[in-house]
Amino acid sequence: MKKIARKWAFGSMSYGIGLASALLVAGCYPKAGPAPGPVSANGVARASTRWPGVTGESLTAGHDLFIANCNRCHDYPDLTAVADEKWPAIVNRMGDKAELSPAQIDLVLHFVQTARSEQVAKP
Ligand code: HEC
Repeated sequence: MKKIARKWAFGSMSYGIGLASALLVAGCYPKAGPAPGPVSANGVARASTRWPGVTGESLTAGHDLFIANCNRCHDYPDLTAVADEKWPAIVNRMGDKAELSPAQIDLVLHFVQTARSEQVAKP
């Protein structure tokens, strides 16, 4: 009898931990979205005005880093579900988790904000 009770207690404890982490993911994680495509020529032009030094090549590098890293721990995030001004802090935090360098984090951030503005502009 004692043995059964202990087994039950252990089982419900791991169920509790599973439930807690499911709630954590549901509570903190924004909507998942499709893998974003490359930035258009218009997007490149706007981005290079917004951030001097940003080019089609740097946006492509940011896109490739995003595709390679940003679905490793969760699905690709929906870029439009996060406000433009919230992305810098999040990409800094996530880039650290993904062990990207500060320069790589900048590439990803500029890609994310450019691709987001293109998605938002679409009807
Ligand atoms: C090593 C694992 C890991 C990698 C790699 C990773 N993430 Fe995350 N991400 C998490 C975890 C865990 C959470 C939920 C907890 C949190 O917000 O820190 C999260 C949450 C998020 C959120 C929600 C944050 C919020 O405050 O709403 C966004 C957006 C996000 N990730 C984007 C990204 C992007 C973009 C990348 C690629 C640079 C990335 N993640 C790479 C683990 C990761």
